[in-house]
Parts: sequence; structure tokens; C-alpha cells
Amino acid sequence: QTTNTATIDATSGNINIISKYIYSQFSEHLGNCIYDGIWVGKDSKIPNQAGIRTDVVEALKKLHVPALRWPGGCFADEYHWKDGIGLTKDRPKMINTNWGVVTEDNSFGTDEFMDLCQKLDCEAYISGNLGSGTVQEMSQWVEYLNSDNVSPMTDLRKQNGREKSYGVKFWGVGNESWGCGGKMKAQYYADKALQFSAFLKNYGSNNLKQIAVGPNATDYNWTDVLMRETGTHFWGISLHYYTTLNGSATNFKESEWFKVMQSTLKMEEIIEKHAAIMDTYDPYKKVGLVVDEWGTWFDVEPNTNPGFLYQQNSLRDALVAGVNLNIFNNHSDRVKMTCIAQVVNVLQSMILTKGENMVLTPTYYVFDMFKVHQDAYLVPSELSCENYMYEGASVPALNMSSSIDNDGKMHISICNLHATKNEKLVCNLKGFDPLGITGKIITANKLNAYNSFDDPIQISDKLFSDFSFKKNQLTINIPPHSVITLEVDGD
Ligand code: AHR
Repeated sequence: QTTNTATIDATSGNINIISKYIYSQFSEHLGNCIYDGIWVGKDSKIPNQAGIRTDVVEALKKLHVPALRWPGGCFADEYHWKDGIGLTKDRPKMINTNWGVVTEDNSFGTDEFMDLCQKLDCEAYISGNLGSGTVQEMSQWVEYLNSDNVSPMTDLRKQNGREKSYGVKFWGVGNESWGCGGKMKAQYYADKALQFSAFLKNYGSNNLKQIAVGPNATDYNWTDVLMRETGTHFWGISLHYYTTLNGSATNFKESEWFKVMQSTLKMEEIIEKHAAIMDTYDPYKKVGLVVDEWGTWFDVEPNTNPGFLYQQNSLRDALVAGVNLNIFNNHSDRVKMTCIAQVVNVLQSMILTKGENMVLTPTYYVFDMFKVHQDAYLVPSELSCENYMYEGASVPALNMSSSIDNDGKMHISICNLHATKNEKLVCNLKGFDPLGITGKIITANKLNAYNSFDDPIQISDKLFSDFSFKKNQLTINIPPHSVITLEVDGD
């Protein structure tokens, strides 16, 4: 068997922290993400607290979600926040033109979202409406959420039952302004974003972290124009890149497994190319790259509304999650936040719900396993591995990242992308002598195994112990199609 090698260098002097915000989530008014997935209303038979599902909150709390993006997505640029506050019965209805052309009754609005964030103990990341809203509207939303001054918006919030300001930090200045958010050209957007941004005020000690709409996937010109025009004005610029494939989320063969691995690995090249452009305008890396939409996008489940983007989630999604989180960790000098799309019932979800039932997806278990990297120091790893070849094409069989947390524990996460082959990896832990190691693994017998409502724990994390170490040499036998994380106690 070919031996793959890695050097994990704890002596590199790296002071780069993997921002916990890389592990953020996205919730949109789309299909059954908000309604049914999160919000069931106070009178529902499904156990809830003030209308928010208790089971979903409890499951998400375990992931230590650092921030939650809302209300879109494309929905954000047709959302008028004042329609979603005050007495529910008085809230006007609207049409969700992007997603299924269904009626949105606005029963879940700003104060309900902030209540959700409080329950999850996470930061709110609000996407403002730049596409069809006004500067005043967005400016007043910030005031409603963050002001403790004497002001009309502060009074409005108090009337709605919230005395103290919420102190929202993360603020998106539009969404996909190159597409559903207004079909703008980069120069036009840059001008508009600066104009809106000028009226988004910091209240008290709360300094907004404003995020401009960055590129769609490989649109490097957008990044160039945006960075040239806005320099270091914004805290971050977004990037959207999905792992797409026309085909079923669960009914697939190795050929489609391989294509998905190829597509998802492109994230690395895309990040590196955008980061290189950002470096020319921002060499001190003040502006973060915020990958606030990523994940798999397959065919919707049969007999579901095509506008609801409801898909199952298999072991293949677990690999996609692990690969991308490793890529983000390794590029955490520039990538400061990411939000997988989306948290419940839409695209690559953590959770699926059906009535009162809930299923945790393989992706959920990867986020649970990887949370140890949140706010830990990145330890650079240099990997030399064999290729996984399929019908004349190839991808690296392995993908990894490592970090050391505040308690001095090292965590090493590795994905074996190979559909059929065990990979032996010999790691040289430079400057770190292991005293004891424990491991966890996510895998299954079949590539397309998944958790269904009938069989909800086909896939979860299991203990993993197929490794040995001698001094600072660690040898791991990584089963095919698996994601593992080792915790290394050491000196
Ligand atoms: O996540 C689904 C949609 O994908 C979002 O609404 C949009 O921003 C993107 O195109």
C-alpha cells in the first residue's frame, strides 16, 4: 500500500486563529427552513418556546453555532422588515416570489429571529435589502436593533416588548446583487454599497461588521472592482460557491460521488484566486472573505415543491462538509466567516423535519465533530498523498487540517475521499509529542447511506481507534469514504 505522509508543524510560529465564525449557519425564508423547520407558532402541538421548535434549538445548541444569517438569500432583497414586527395579526402578507411563489405571512420577523439567536446563544447576521429597499429603510433597521438613544425606532422596538438594544454586529449590505439581488454591475454595486453603508450607524460601543456583496464563484472581475473601489472599508466581502450536480441526493453511483468531490475541491482554488486579488488591495488582510453560502445543491426530493430546495443528505454530503471545513480552516488567514446553506430543510441542512419528527443529517455530525477547531490556532499541515483516480480523472485522496485549542489539545481532521480504498497516513508531529489520542469517525457501508425518518441513525459519529504513535510519529489507517477527527493530548 502507498504511504501518504503529512507534517503537522506546531513549531511554525503561526498565530493564525481559525475564526469560530467559519462554523456559522444560514436560515432563509425559503421552503420549510423558517416555517416548520424553526418556527411552528405558539399554538402548535409541536413542543416550542414562544413559537420556536424546542427540538431544533436543542440540537443546534450542541453545535455551538457562532452566527446565524437571515432572512436571505434572494429573499433578503425583497424583504421589508417593518412588515415583520408588532402584533402578528396586523402584519401584512407578501408573496415570496423567489421561492415557490407562496404567501409569506411575516409571522416570523425581526424580534422572533433575535429570540432564536438568543436561544442559540449566537450572533445575528442580518442581510439588508439593498435591491428593492431604501437607504432609510436599512438605516432604520439598524437603529431598531441597536439604538438605546431616544429615537422613533428605539421607541418602536420598546413598544414591541424589547427594552434594551440587541447589539447586532454582522450586517450584509445586500445579497447576490449581481443576480437575484438586483442584476447590478460591479462598479454600480460598489457605489451603491458605499452609499448604504454610510447610513448604517454604530450605536453605543457596538461597531458594525459590514459585509459587502462579493463575487459569484469564479467572477474574479467582481472582486477586483469591488476591492479597488471599497478598499478596506468593509469588514468582509462575501463569496458564494455551491457544489452542484444535476442528480439525486441519495440515488447515485461512484461516478457521481467522484464528480461531487471534484466540484467541491474547487473551493480551494476559488478562495486562493479571490484572496490573491484581495491581497493586492489589502495586503494586511483587514477585509475578511465571508463564504456566506456554500454546500451541496442537488435535485429536490421527488414530489416536493421545486421552489423549496428540499434535499436529503447522505454520506457524500458529510465528505463535502469535511473537505470544505478543512479548506476554510487552512485559509483562515483570509476566510473569517462562512455560512453553510442552509440550517434546516433546505439544500445541505444540519436538520430535516417532518411534522413533529426531526432527523440529524450526516452534515450535522461533521459540524459537531469539527467544532473543536472553533477559535483554535491553525497548525499548518503539509500533506503529500496519492490520487483517487476515476475514469481517467483524479483528485487528491486525502484532505486535512489541524489546530491547537486553548487547553493545548491538538485536533487533526482528515477526509478520505476515495470511494473504495483505505489510506494509510504517516504524520510527523513537529514540536508536539503525543501523550494520548482519541478519535471519532463518520462513515457508512454505502456511499449513499443517509438518515431517514424511518431509520434516523444510519450515520452518526463513532469512536475510531485505528491509529498508533511512537514519539511524534502518528500512523493512521483511514477507511474509504470517511471523515475522522483525532484529539491529541501532548507536550
Ligand atoms: O441558498 C439558496 C439561494 O442560493 C439563496 O437564496 C441565494 O442567495 C443563492 O442563489
